[in-house]
Parts: sequence; C-alpha cells; structure tokens
Amino acid sequence: MVVAATRSVPEECIRLEDPKAGLDGYIVIHSTARGPAAGGCRFWTYDTPEAALADAMRLAEGMSYKNASAELPLGGGKSVIRRPAGDFDRKALFEAFGEAVERLGGRYVTAEDVGTTIADMEAIATNTRHVAGRTARPGFAGGDPSPWTALGVFEAMKAAARLRFGGSLAGTTVAVQGVGSVGGRLARLLAEEGAKLVLADIDGARASALADELGAQLASIDTIAGIACDVFAPCALGGALDAATVAGLKAGLVCGAANNQLATPEMAEALASRSILYAPDYVVNAGGIINVAAEYLGESEDQVRGRVLAIGPRTAGILEMAEAEGLTSSAVADREAEAKMRRPEVAETA
Ligand code: NAI
Repeated sequence: MVVAATRSVPEECIRLEDPKAGLDGYIVIHSTARGPAAGGCRFWTYDTPEAALADAMRLAEGMSYKNASAELPLGGGKSVIRRPAGDFDRKALFEAFGEAVERLGGRYVTAEDVGTTIADMEAIATNTRHVAGRTARPGFAGGDPSPWTALGVFEAMKAAARLRFGGSLAGTTVAVQGVGSVGGRLARLLAEEGAKLVLADIDGARASALADELGAQLASIDTIAGIACDVFAPCALGGALDAATVAGLKAGLVCGAANNQLATPEMAEALASRSILYAPDYVVNAGGIINVAAEYLGESEDQVRGRVLAIGPRTAGILEMAEAEGLTSSAVADREAEAKMRRPEVAETA
C-alpha cells in the first residue's frame, strides 16, 4: 500500500491495542470542523504500526477533503487495523474495535473500506451506534453505495463533457477501465445516454458479458487508456494516471470513479499541459460516501439523490474556475474543499 505524506496535522490519533482481541491499529480523526470525523475502517497487512499510522493519516485527510467537497455535515477520519498473522476471531476483533469507536463518543464514525465487510460492521454495531455500511433496511438510505457512486460520476461526466465538447455524451466514445460495481453501472448509464463504449477489465469474462449486453467494444487492459476516445473513465484501482499513461491518452476528458487516480500530484499539471480536462476524483466519486453518510445521518433517499445530483454542477464549477484562473482542477478542488472545512456553516446547504 502506497504511503504518501500528508499536508496537515490531524486533530487526534488514537492507538488501538487489545492483544486479547487481536486488535492493533489506529483511528485518526483528521478534522471535526464540519461534524463527526467520518471514514471507513481498512483491514490490511501492514509490516509496522508506523506504516499503519501513516496510511490512516493520509486516508483520514483525504476523507476531510471528500466530505467537505460533498458538503456533508461531516469531518474526516479513518481507521486502519493490522490484519493478524495467524488465526484470529474476526467477530471478537471487530467487537473490540466497536468499543474503541464508542469510547470516542461520536467524534469518529466508521464504515467499510478495503478488507472490511457488512458482517464486520454488524460486529462493530454490537458496541456502538457510530457505524454505517450495515445491512440495508427497506425504505432507509444505506445498502450498496456503488449505484450512487456511478450516478455521481455520470452527472460529473455529463457536466464536464458540455464544457469540453460543447454538447451531450450522445455519440461520444467513452473508454471505461474496470467494469466492476461502479464501472459496470456507469457503462449502463452511458449506453442509455447514447455514448459509444469501449470496455476493459482484468476479469475478461465480466468485460465481454457486459460488452455483449451493451453492444460495446472491448480493449485489453494494456491498451484501454491509450485508445482513441473522447472520455477516459478510470474505474479500477488507484494510480491509473502515471506519466506514461498521461502521455499516451487520446481522450479530451478524464472522469471516473477510482480513488487517487493521479499517480503523483504532478500528473494534474501533465494533464492540463496536454489540454486534457480532468474531473477531480474525490469530487466526482462522492456518491458512495453520500449514501453511507445518509445512513448515519438518517437522511432519505431523496436527500441522497439531491446531494449526488449536485456533483454535476459542482464539477462544472471547479473546471470553470480552473480554466478562468489558469490553475489545475485538482488545485481548485482542494482549495474549495479547504474553504468548506474552515466554514462549517455551509454544511447544511447541500
Ligand atoms: P470493484 O472491485 O467492484 O470493480 C473494480 C473492477 O476493476 C473489477 O472488475 C476488477 O476486475 C477491475 N480491474 C482491476 N484492475 C484492473 C486493471 N488494471 N484494468 C482493468 N480493470 C481492472 O470496485 P468498485 O466498487 O467498482 O470500485 C471501483 C473504483 O472506484 C475503486 O478505485 C474504488 O476505490 C472507487 N470507489 C468506489 C466506490 C463505491 O461506491 N464502490 C465509492 C468511491 C470510489
């Protein structure tokens, strides 16, 4: 797991240490300026406690930006738990984690992240109510966040395409890298909109089944980023946009669901210098956290829809400011999120 330096100091780092339960990790509360620090729990193999802490700090800071950008009444936080080497009692481990979350009295709210499941959230919930991502209940917000993430990316892509190409996505060619939970749904929305699709996935059977269903073309995972298209949509893993990939892009717009798309911050300038419009990842992929937050905040599905549909105009606003001010879209997205972190009074206006 890549560990990058953070830009700011978190409010609080809590060491989790319960050898009996196998619990070893950290909760990092980066910011509570807008509300409880919200961010998932990562369950992963880290060689050292320091590596776990560094990852938690980086991820918690990212959540402050994402939650502020989405205008949620939430701050940013994250927890990481080091996966025990041998056999362990998973339920007991997550129950002990739930106790630790409860001791924070609501300053941190957890949910799923890489390596954790709905069952883990249920174990956590035996000891605290400050947990989302639990079993979906009919009539309530919650459940699988992927459809909301896909809708937010779709809205952002439509808004960005109007700026870049002066029209709708109908008739444009969109290359989708990774057709899993989000990328697959995004591809369906794009097909309905009349876009031409090129799909790639390391799971070749998944990509070709979807291509058959939607009448899309297929590309290999090595060529998808460089094919002739209007929009490149990274929807697989992070770091898709490195120097070689950016140099080979033929798209005029990059807009996708993956987290941390820029392999290094300099890629924002590299994209801009090639006149490729980049819709910042954490702005466009906020639909998932919006849905998870709604479960915790007790919001309705209509409120979730409203917040997700706002991603389109928000993305357009950021791209327009970047153009007008000669800045990268990433720099403007960060600046706008930082302003919202300082002004929690805008939290309720989404
Ligand atoms: P997923 O695991 O359902 O789908 C990812 C897909 O990418 C899989 O089909 C996988 O086979 C494929 N893949 C992996 N490496 C690939 C490669 N090198 N080339 C092409 N395909 C590759 O994951 P999901 O939930 O769809 O998430 C996709 C991305 O969006 C991830 O980066 C995730 O962090 C991000 N994201 C997801 C959210 C959600 O609500 N699920 C919310 C916000 C961000």
